[in-house]
Amino acid sequence: MKIAVVGTGYVGLVTGTCLSEIGHVVTCIDIDQMKVNKMRDGISPIYEPGLDELMKKNIRENRLFFTTNHHDGFGGADVIYIAVGTPENKDGSANLSYVEQVAKDIATHIKRDVVVVTKSTVPVGTNDWIKEVIQNHLVHNVKVDIVSNPEFLREGAAIFDSFNGDRIVIGADNEAAANVLYEINKPFGISIFKTDIRSAEMIKYAANAFLATKISFINEISNICEKVDANVEDVANGMGQDSRIGSLFLNAGIGYGGSCFPKDTKALIQIAGNVEYDFDLLKGVVRVNQKQQEILLSKMEDRFDNFKDKKIAILGLAFKPNTDDMREAASIVIIKQLIEKGANVFAYDPVAMGNAKKILDSKVNYTPSTFEALKDADAALILTEWNEFKDLNLSEFEKYMKFPVIFDGRNCFDLKIVKNYNVEYHSMGRKSIKNIKLSYVK
Ligand code: UDX
Repeated sequence: MKIAVVGTGYVGLVTGTCLSEIGHVVTCIDIDQMKVNKMRDGISPIYEPGLDELMKKNIRENRLFFTTNHHDGFGGADVIYIAVGTPENKDGSANLSYVEQVAKDIATHIKRDVVVVTKSTVPVGTNDWIKEVIQNHLVHNVKVDIVSNPEFLREGAAIFDSFNGDRIVIGADNEAAANVLYEINKPFGISIFKTDIRSAEMIKYAANAFLATKISFINEISNICEKVDANVEDVANGMGQDSRIGSLFLNAGIGYGGSCFPKDTKALIQIAGNVEYDFDLLKGVVRVNQKQQEILLSKMEDRFDNFKDKKIAILGLAFKPNTDDMREAASIVIIKQLIEKGANVFAYDPVAMGNAKKILDSKVNYTPSTFEALKDADAALILTEWNEFKDLNLSEFEKYMKFPVIFDGRNCFDLKIVKNYNVEYHSMGRKSIKNIKLSYVK
């Protein structure tokens, strides 16, 4: 199968590379020449474990190509994937201007029948609209089918998920188009679920909204646990063993971030609103998440009188581990407030500091290691559960910090272990541990 993928952001690049790995000939198209030059050398513009190696392998084996030229990219393609961004508009709706431009480009350049596949997350009904846009701008008399094929890839685990996902969803309005996608995806060896276009579009939003709901739910339970002296990890464990609930996505923390959950939950509220349905439950999920991102600050405010001139070490900036993605990361909200309150912020993240520098206040100091961030700090905040933080020996906090007061927003340490160290430790939905006698206190 000859495939063109438009857009080499996170979704497009991973999708294109993995499709080439299962034997298809794939050309990825992007308007950014510098990015295309790099990708031709097998250098991914995003940090994703395993992606560079897979790109290099398939470039070498002549199955993966990159171009800025739509004519070259679409020439001879049997199937064209749309994988451009759908950023959030001010009102929470999805911005479809990039998708529209691609639809017009497709209409101008194709000279043979094609199946157009939408990977980008788009509101219900968008695929019908894309088909209309293409048909209204067609230059040659060719047949175009549209298929919705949403992605469910987690950043940081996208290659693994491509080959081990739970399902592939194909939404089509005719059997022939659905079968083209079925054949393309068969080598992945993942169960394939066929449905109509609108249901496929809805599955993506519903799945992400449900996962976000699980997170906000456990975060509220966590806040209650703190007040009634229960342990949220044990509660989640006990709940999750009920197979109707499931154990995943029940980790309490400082809320969900990233490029999908915040955007997709708001877009679904908007989609519902457009058909005069008030999605009240999901509005609550979003509200809870916004509050949850600030909860470590409230804990700090309970602990310290003020942050003026205090050195605060931040461990972790990315919205989750194994990614350099800073989009909607809780660290943005927390650091902004700390700086407003006069704190000296020293931050370290294994890979996200480059992206962080583009968006965080210029007053943030970046350190080349955990230990330099911790050195002489009055408090340490763990905002991303990178393994290198989880693997730290708690004695390091005592060794490097002025006072080893830790606020762990991701429950990286087992309380049974923390008890053995000379630290003050506040985490999420669990008892605080105060093993140090702090004379300076506030
Ligand atoms: C998500 C979906 O999982 C994926 O299927 C979809 O297609 C894209 O969006 P991603 O954004 O990469 O993937 O990250 P994910 O691992 O789902 O985590 C999202 C956020 O939720 C992170 O900020 C994470 O820290 C948080 N989270 C996750 C929790 O707070 N608790 C959990 O139990 C799980």
